[in-house]
Amino acid sequence: MNKEYLNDLFSRIADVTVCVVGDVCLDIYWHADMKKSVLSRETPHFPLPVTEERYSLGGGGNVMANVSALGVKAVLPVSVLGADWRGYLARECFKNISANAAGLITDETRVTPCYAKPLRQGISDVVYEDPRLDFENRSPLTERTENEILAALDKAAARADAIAVSDQLEYGVVTPRIREMLCELGKTMPVIVDSRDRIALYDNVIIKPNEFEAAGALGGGFSDPAAAAKALSAKTGAPVIVTLGDKGAVWCEGKNAVFVRSTPAEPPVDPVGAGDTFLAAFAAAYAAGAAGPEAVEFANLAAGVTVKKIGTTGTATESEILQLTIKN
Ligand SMILES: Nc1ncnc2c1ncn2[C@@H]1O[C@H](COP(=O)(O)OP(=O)(O)OP(=O)(O)O)[C@@H](O)[C@H]1O
Ligand SMILES: [Mg+2]
Repeated sequence: MNKEYLNDLFSRIADVTVCVVGDVCLDIYWHADMKKSVLSRETPHFPLPVTEERYSLGGGGNVMANVSALGVKAVLPVSVLGADWRGYLARECFKNISANAAGLITDETRVTPCYAKPLRQGISDVVYEDPRLDFENRSPLTERTENEILAALDKAAARADAIAVSDQLEYGVVTPRIREMLCELGKTMPVIVDSRDRIALYDNVIIKPNEFEAAGALGGGFSDPAAAAKALSAKTGAPVIVTLGDKGAVWCEGKNAVFVRSTPAEPPVDPVGAGDTFLAAFAAAYAAGAAGPEAVEFANLAAGVTVKKIGTTGTATESEILQLTIKN
């Protein structure tokens, strides 16, 4: 993918609107400097003195941040936040990305999903991660909120050139009714879906499993990703992408599967969030008119940028993607 092609693609991406449906999660990093810790008088513990706190959008929110970083005309998030402190902080994070907040619904009965990571550092430079504190919903959305999401999705879909879906949480924003609407929308516009556990429930949309999720969606027994992609495409009636970690991805349309190689990033790498960046970049490029294999190649490049961002999910910008292309 040469520089001229990328420049042209970015100028077209600047004209597209991408709707992102998924759970906005808050990723928290609390850095504790244990050199400052003094034994507690009340308990036999050394407290974690937090000297730095970082907050960023995770889950579907990370896909939204990634779409925004690519410089699209508009990001239209469709999600639900709680009326809690985490919802407040997530909304603050949205101020750093250009996204239209109209589809961010507040429901005071919901928990804003959040993953808080305490990180300890002592005398050496090594950072140790303590067990994470997870906040998640344990029950489905109310029908009232679900109706609000359906209405927000209807509005956003009418304006969008593509819809990216992050269906990751058991009691998340993508309920069976919302999934049904997404499958219906997939018949008339590009809808691209990522889901660890529910990819098998989609039809008429472009699904983007990794090779293990693809095999799982077929009931196991598929070791060849191209064969898995073809079998899934026959089932969904739409193109399929199977991502292959540092090897790239397979794009399959009808009976045709092509392997789109990526350049493995030099270690150290942090693959957390690579799938989110891939989904965001593919959706933006495909919405901008790139053909499937080209949009996959572009997504490989964007994800290749974020796997180099250690200890954070991260986003990829135009200049970072161009720099990586020149390097490779
Ligand atoms: N080490 C790497 N070097 C370069 N690119 C990578 C590397 N790992 C992943 N990628 C890119 O990220 C994409 C998605 O990676 P992968 O197949 O691991 O997805 P995933 O398992 O869904 O990831 P996630 O853990 O984010 O859910 C790959 O198709 C590739 O483009
Ligand atoms: Mg994934």
